[in-house]
Amino acid sequence: MEVLLHENADGASVVAGKIVARLVRQKPNAVLGLATGSTPLGLYRELIRLHQDEGLDFSQVTTFNLDEYIGVDGNHPCSYRRFMMENLFSGLNIPESQIHIPDGLASDIPAHCEAYEEAIQVAGGIDLQVLGIGSDGHLGFNEPTSSLASRTRIKTLTKETREDNARFFERPEDVPHHCITMGMGTILDSRVCLMLAFGENKASAVAQAVEGPVSAMIPASALQLHPHVHVLLDEGAARKLTRKDYYEHVYDNKPAWQQY
Ligand code: GLP
Repeated sequence: MEVLLHENADGASVVAGKIVARLVRQKPNAVLGLATGSTPLGLYRELIRLHQDEGLDFSQVTTFNLDEYIGVDGNHPCSYRRFMMENLFSGLNIPESQIHIPDGLASDIPAHCEAYEEAIQVAGGIDLQVLGIGSDGHLGFNEPTSSLASRTRIKTLTKETREDNARFFERPEDVPHHCITMGMGTILDSRVCLMLAFGENKASAVAQAVEGPVSAMIPASALQLHPHVHVLLDEGAARKLTRKDYYEHVYDNKPAWQQY
């Protein structure tokens, strides 16, 4: 696991943009796993800038989003589909047929989840998965005690997650109780994981994910089992890490070919 410490979210987002851009230049038909939430917004702005100002071409890229609320129409202002359209896809040139987001209105949810997994396989697997982290340590919507081998499926949100996400809804009671989310096994199958975390309210989850024991109580800790993970943090999110000196030392001594 590579832990990259930045002063602020903007600096981390620019580096995350470089990591994604490098992949898309090397493999124009890359498969990207994408996340929602406020955390990846800076990365998405950077990808749009790279596309519009520097001609980074996304026309052959395929995307799979991590999750979606159940019972929420894709046009609803709080749906993750709408979020992605407004904050990323409207600024890039990815054909809509190459964009995949779970359908919160699917009539047969287990069949839809199975088809989602199959579509990832057919696309060749996810090359790079963008991740945020919930304050309870979740990835996607894999809440604490999620199986670390789970696949795309229905999950029930914790009280904490519903409270955290209430800010996007008109009334707190409007936050759905259920969602479809890629599983931890789905996420761990990605070739590269890029986790971003900003702000002090993520510090405890980040410290447990990066330095704590691997446990289904902190699903993000399963990233310790993955061979290629970048964790990009701002000062607040890094506050509770105990090995910060080492992560900085590693970064300062990176061989030129490994630098961003
Ligand atoms: C939601 C999403 C997660 C995201 C998390 C953190 O629960 N399902 O994928 O990582 O929110 O959100 P934020 O980035 O807004 O803190």
